[in-house]
Amino acid sequence: MKTRTKWCLLALGFGLGLSQYHSHTHHGGSIVHLFEWRWSDIADECERYLAPSGFHGVQISPPSEHIVVSKPHRPWWERYQPVSYNLCSRSGTEHELRDMIRRCNDVGVKIYADVVINHMCMADAGEGSRSTCGSYFNASREEFPSVPYSAADFNDDKCTSGSGNIENYQDIYQVRNCRLLGLLDLAQDKEHVRGKIVDYLNTLVDMGVAGFRVDACKHMWPADLKVLYGRLHNLNPKWFPKGSSPLIYQEVIDLGDEPIKAGEYYPLGRVTEFKYGAMLGSVFRKWNGYKLSDLRSWGEGWGLMPSDKALVFVDNHDNQRGHGAGGASILTFWEPRLYKMAVAFMLAHPYGMTRVMSSYRWDRHIVKGKDENDWVGPPSYPDGTTKPVPIGPDGGCGDGWVCEHRWPQIRNMVTFRVIVNGQPLCNWWDNGSNQIAFGRGDRGFIVINNDECFLDATLNTGLTAGTYCDVISGQKTGDRCTGKQVTVDSRGRAHFRISNMDQDPFIAIHRDSKL
Ligand SMILES: *[C@@H]1O[C@H](CO)[C@@H](O)[C@H](O)[C@H]1NC(C)=O
Ligand SMILES: *[C@@H]1O[C@H](CO)[C@@H](O)[C@H](O)[C@H]1NC(C)=O
Repeated sequence: MKTRTKWCLLALGFGLGLSQYHSHTHHGGSIVHLFEWRWSDIADECERYLAPSGFHGVQISPPSEHIVVSKPHRPWWERYQPVSYNLCSRSGTEHELRDMIRRCNDVGVKIYADVVINHMCMADAGEGSRSTCGSYFNASREEFPSVPYSAADFNDDKCTSGSGNIENYQDIYQVRNCRLLGLLDLAQDKEHVRGKIVDYLNTLVDMGVAGFRVDACKHMWPADLKVLYGRLHNLNPKWFPKGSSPLIYQEVIDLGDEPIKAGEYYPLGRVTEFKYGAMLGSVFRKWNGYKLSDLRSWGEGWGLMPSDKALVFVDNHDNQRGHGAGGASILTFWEPRLYKMAVAFMLAHPYGMTRVMSSYRWDRHIVKGKDENDWVGPPSYPDGTTKPVPIGPDGGCGDGWVCEHRWPQIRNMVTFRVIVNGQPLCNWWDNGSNQIAFGRGDRGFIVINNDECFLDATLNTGLTAGTYCDVISGQKTGDRCTGKQVTVDSRGRAHFRISNMDQDPFIAIHRDSKL
């Protein structure tokens, strides 16, 4: 069955124009999560790669001081266990952080800080000064003198579960007043705690960050977050228009089966849409009878949150290793062929604000479906210092850094998204199975073949007549094309042939890839 949509689907939903949803300088660019990178490497990456490739911003790992864990040896999750708001972390010093923010802003790449404000370290994290700036803490006494926080600043008196931990996700009071996996749960309703958190966030805003990824928001009361966000300074006028407020995206895992809903957080900022990667992974894997043609109604039509509230991603640092939400359907760099197709679909489709993952490799050791090495931290020297990210002659990364954002197919689709920004989804085509195509106004067109057979079709692209260079099999360099060429006729039609055996069975062309 051949189906074709001639009409462009106008993007639904008007944003309110508030900058906690839309950064003032956001032009369809994507955020890349440079997970566990050192500040000095991120600064270099902004200048040499992210700015020229059209990346909008970087999500950095939490910049606050955290525990140093030796058993297991320096896991990535130690950064989600703060002991103070001093700005020294595994990624570097305060000086290096400040230098990175300045250098990235100077080339137009925004910095979004991952901030952990729901909790401090685990109750059983011990005592002493095994922390990244050597600050003393005593977890069993709930003492964090360098903030300072003490026992009265935590939620223990409000928690009603037997163990003090969250035991029942159907009970919203437990989810927000008890300890998440034993992490000491801060009382954001207390003025002292509010003041300390706001000081921390405003220090970062004044340094020049453009906003925040707020960790574990499901475990905090929206009313408390509203107070915290309401006290944030405007962005630093050195780099941002006067009166701009920080962009906020909140980590809320809502797969639809719990009483706490992502919608409670929409009035406050954007929200991470975890259904996105879980569903998209299932579709590209063809699970549950899904076909790519089902993506015709992708977005709110699939029960996803409103596009102007969603921060979307194929995988994140949690669910790429079996943590968090999404389970086995999540696609990651470990399955590069399907992964590139899914990321390309995300970047071509108008729904949501997009985030691209940039990972490191680890030795997976899967026992009965669980990865025993899901804790492994970034590439590092025996003393635990994180290794720099070396860039090879082909532009890829070495020493265990995966750098999906440097894969040419992903990088070129990040550029595609900037070029088609604001254009409606047009000219949808599918073959009733796993071959699909769609355009974005008269700016760009993508064709994907995830079927077991050849794709051979003449399609309406919406583009002006000319010869275009496919940015997946190659790209335009000067006036030459290193990949496939696509000829669009005067009526906007072009013939596409994609073998299911191709290394990357999809083609993308856009206004700037015209020869
Ligand atoms: C840390 O707290 C525990 C429990 O109250 C206490 O026994 C211990 O002496 C404290 N450690 C230090 C170094 O103060
Ligand atoms: C679409 O692809 C499927 C799956 O391989 C194939 O069986 C079918 O014939 C194709 N449909 C059309 C209309 O070309």
